[in-house]
Amino acid sequence: MKSDFRIVVLPGDGIGVEVIDATLAMLEPLQARHGFRLGYDRRPGGAHCYEDTGDAFPDSSMKACEAADAILFGAMGWPEIRYPDGTEIAPQLDMRVHLDLYAGVRPIRAIPGLPLPLASPHAAEIDLVIVRESTEGWFHARGHGRRVTTPDGDEAVQDPCQISRKACERLFDFSFRLAQARKRRNPAKGKVTCIDKSNVFLGMAFMNGIFRERSAHFTDVVADHCYIDAYCLNLIRRPWDYDVCPMENQFGDIASDLGAGLVCGMGYAPSADIGDRHAVFQPSHGSAPDIAGKGIANPTATFLSAAMMLEWLGDRHAEPTLLEAAQAIREAVDRVFAEGRARPADIGGVDGTAAVTRAVIDALAP
Ligand code: NAI
Ligand code: MG
Repeated sequence: MKSDFRIVVLPGDGIGVEVIDATLAMLEPLQARHGFRLGYDRRPGGAHCYEDTGDAFPDSSMKACEAADAILFGAMGWPEIRYPDGTEIAPQLDMRVHLDLYAGVRPIRAIPGLPLPLASPHAAEIDLVIVRESTEGWFHARGHGRRVTTPDGDEAVQDPCQISRKACERLFDFSFRLAQARKRRNPAKGKVTCIDKSNVFLGMAFMNGIFRERSAHFTDVVADHCYIDAYCLNLIRRPWDYDVCPMENQFGDIASDLGAGLVCGMGYAPSADIGDRHAVFQPSHGSAPDIAGKGIANPTATFLSAAMMLEWLGDRHAEPTLLEAAQAIREAVDRVFAEGRARPADIGGVDGTAAVTRAVIDALAP
């Protein structure tokens, strides 16, 4: 039985550092209680690392990630620090490609007790998962964009989009298996909605065809479809109708921020970038320069990402105690908000990072 895990910790920039420190504190009491040990290997990377050293993500950090059992990530990037070509420092994008983390899993779940922006009582039922393809799509353009001259002599830039069969097959298979697992826990679930723009783009029509092919292998799950524009409408009108929603990289980037907005913002939106061998767990948010250093970053999203990490490790190593610890985090978070034990600044309360962390640690106590 494996009970010691090597976790590479990449705090990164801005509030990434703050929410990671809070999360390591939250994980501390859980380890003794559930009988596992996380050995942390803290590594540099990010925009400030680039500013200081000229290297956004040292090779030694990537090597450590390759050897880790799991990677816990804060946020990287700072709008004022950019490469000479004008783009931002984003090692998290390079990691997704390098470690082949094809499934960006972004659960959007209404935590009981939060003041949800949608007035409908159904809003409390919001419980969907965006699965963002994370290795290609429009992000394939990174490093492949090119300057061209249009036929009428204007200057222009072409950013190519790539949709490959392999990426689609594994994205959809992952999504169908996730829907099966969710249906086992909740019989009302068990639907996969392919989100695309197959009415316009050849690559998306190709993707949609592969979705239909793969759905034939998962007949216990409903296979559904929606165009991305209608999906944005439906996310506001009736998001509770969705379950698992796979989509192209850029669509997933945008839709996951919209989804986070439905459940009170980035501070409540966890995520995991999962491949067949490696996985990175991080909040969906960025380094939030507007609130960095003020002690008010909400650590909840990172707590829930740590729960996803323990669940992934528990499944992978057939270690039920880690699954229990993951569940304990989710229940503690739910208790804190349902019972009004903390009211973070991002929902108009007065509680900063330290107070929310303390409340969740207290709620974890048996
Ligand atoms: P952001 O997610 O950092 O912030 C968006 C808004 O949400 C801001 O108003 C911020 O204050 C708020 N917010 C985010 N996390 C919060 C939390 N935990 N608690 C309370 N409020 C929170 O996105 P933004 O401002 O577009 O990007 C800032 C930087 O982060 C940029 O350099 C960007 O490139 C980078 N970024 C990095 C990501 C990553 O490392 N995975 C993801 C998204 C952005
Ligand atoms: Mg984003």
